[in-house]
Amino acid sequence: MQIALIAHDEKKPDLVEFVRENIDQLSSVDCISTGTTGKRIGEETDLAVDPKESGPLGGDMIIGAAVATGDCNAVIFLRDPLTAQPHEPDINALLRVCDVHNVPLATNLASANAIIDELVGEA
Ligand code: PGA
Repeated sequence: MQIALIAHDEKKPDLVEFVRENIDQLSSVDCISTGTTGKRIGEETDLAVDPKESGPLGGDMIIGAAVATGDCNAVIFLRDPLTAQPHEPDINALLRVCDVHNVPLATNLASANAIIDELVGEA
């Protein structure tokens, strides 16, 4: 089981807190992330993550490719709904490829918790 963790800058603190709260469940799966998100998780929590490129430099596309190849089983992507992103096309492509492949995608904490409960279990 592989889960991708991504957060826009305004949402990174929320994702770090989410990782801390679900550290046991997340430690039981393989976690990948975009670059800056992964760096923050690595510095601020005990979770081992595999950071790819930063989102604006193509990280969302790398995660989208992992979804398309069937390697990534769920995406938790805490988006900032109030700020325009320069790499909006890449973000849309990631959301789209999750829908194409019916891969669970959480874009807020409520749905992120649902993914953890459903897919990873209450470790
Ligand atoms: P980041 O990318 O983790 O490198 O900040 C997130 C994103 O904006 O997709």
